[in-house]
Amino acid sequence: MYSKPKKIGSIEIKNRFIRSATFEGMATEDGYITDKHLKLYKKLAEGGIGLIITGYGYVQET
Ligand SMILES: Cc1cc2nc3c(=O)[nH]c(=O)nc-3n(C[C@H](O)[C@H](O)[C@H](O)COP(=O)(O)O)c2cc1C
Repeated sequence: MYSKPKKIGSIEIKNRFIRSATFEGMATEDGYITDKHLKLYKKLAEGGIGLIITGYGYVQET
């Protein structure tokens, strides 16, 4: 049941496993992502999680 695809609104996720947001403590002092983040999210995606919710992020004004 949890391994079947599921629709959330118009988005279909491939299974019902959801990775909840967590505090990763991997950003730089001034808030930039690091290779540690990239490795973590790559690993989660490759592990087959249906929906990954990231930690806090913000859009920087240019
Ligand atoms: C940006 C963000 C970071 C979070 N970080 C953590 C975390 O480090 N540890 C944690 O247990 N929950 C964290 N949460 C809350 C979890 O996403 C989740 O809602 C909670 O762990 C649910 O567990 P509970 O029902 O037992 O409270 C975070 C939520 C957000 C939005």
